[in-house]
Amino acid sequence: MLWGGRFKDKLDQAAMKFSSSLSFDKNLTLEDIQGSRAHAKMLCSIGILTAGELAQISNGLAQIEAEWSQGSWNPDENVFEDIHSAIEARLGEIIGATAGKLHTGRSRNDQIATAMRLWIMKACREVVSNIQLFQSSLVELASAHTRTLIPGYTHLQRAQPVSFAFHLLAYVEMLERDKNRFEFALAGANKLPLGSGALAGSTLPLDRHLTTELLGFEEPCRNALDAVSDRDFLLDFLNACSTGMMHLSRLAEEIVLWSTSEWKFIRLSDKYSTGSSLMPQKKNPDMAELTRGKSGRVFGNQVSLLATLKGLPLSYNRDLQEDKEPVFDSYETYLHSLLLAGKMVETMEVNTARFPGELKGDFSLATDLADWLVMKGIPFREAHKIVGELVKYAENKAVNFENISVEEMKTINPVFDASALECLNISSALERKKTFGSPNPALVEEQVNFWKKKLNR
Ligand code: ARG
Repeated sequence: MLWGGRFKDKLDQAAMKFSSSLSFDKNLTLEDIQGSRAHAKMLCSIGILTAGELAQISNGLAQIEAEWSQGSWNPDENVFEDIHSAIEARLGEIIGATAGKLHTGRSRNDQIATAMRLWIMKACREVVSNIQLFQSSLVELASAHTRTLIPGYTHLQRAQPVSFAFHLLAYVEMLERDKNRFEFALAGANKLPLGSGALAGSTLPLDRHLTTELLGFEEPCRNALDAVSDRDFLLDFLNACSTGMMHLSRLAEEIVLWSTSEWKFIRLSDKYSTGSSLMPQKKNPDMAELTRGKSGRVFGNQVSLLATLKGLPLSYNRDLQEDKEPVFDSYETYLHSLLLAGKMVETMEVNTARFPGELKGDFSLATDLADWLVMKGIPFREAHKIVGELVKYAENKAVNFENISVEEMKTINPVFDASALECLNISSALERKKTFGSPNPALVEEQVNFWKKKLNR
């Protein structure tokens, strides 16, 4: 018990159960110990702890860390309010009365804010390196498919042909922005609250610059009130998880579509598919569906923390304890979805033969034909209309663009000549793209090389 002095009665068991955060703030065990270690060193540097006391505390903390890592110490949720009190109590068991000196000049308010920031920085680094691995898998797959034709869609209607590599690289771009968002969250967390006390600093000469250096933070938080009540870095983290999850969910939806009998574009590995308990023939893309499904919870976590924070007067309020579960849940959910997405992509089979035949002579090159007319000096609006008439003509005759002759084209507009037919050739459709950022295979190869270089740094 950290605060028994002025109380006559013990906390009611139901109140303890209601208020304990131990079941989830156990996640912060290592960060709490890390913070305590630095705090103790600083207390020694200003003469509050002797070198001997510091050694006792440091050894005790090291023992708790070892016990926790080996699983031999696991504090009881019915006994302790949170991980901070549990660690302090265990330290007391190990080293005796000296343990009572550790909390000098410290409140759980600056302690918890410090542990959360350490945890977030670690989580951001881990997530960023896993996003990077997923990007590498996508780029690897893309490098084999710069000429694999697929329909590009708008409104989920076939629009213009693209390559599978081009499609995959769109996700690599999204993931790059996701990394930036986690790096932004990390930078926001990179300030030290420790030494802010409960809300108003301390009368003891705590050296906050030393703890900042010991814990590897960029700088100490400037305002103690803000330091103990700020959870913006968690909101930034949750936002990064939400947007990242939204991207994975979009990819998951595509994987679901691509693996249907209607699309028949990919085959998922058995390792990442499930069967039906009733229909023996079924193979279902459950991992992709779950990624899509779990994204709702991740978005909810972000809204949940915003709602927790919105009415809070400065500074610390116990409501802030509710910041942890959404953060841990979003982290777990996003990270596992990311890992599974990587595995699905690495192991899926791509049916490269699926589309080229079908795209031959369909109307997906109509825009290219309109561009051809533009190069002949026809205003684009007029060119659009002429090609539209040609599409109508072909549809009425139930033929595709491949089977239209130059003579027929000339009946729609005399400007057409044999070179116009080249625009309707699907096998060279991608090569004809001229703009930077288009699916021209030469340009996509450049992009693949750009990413390979960037990601292998
Ligand atoms: N379990 C609390 C939290 O997560 C720790 C801080 C408690 N501070 C207090 N004054 N009751 O926010």
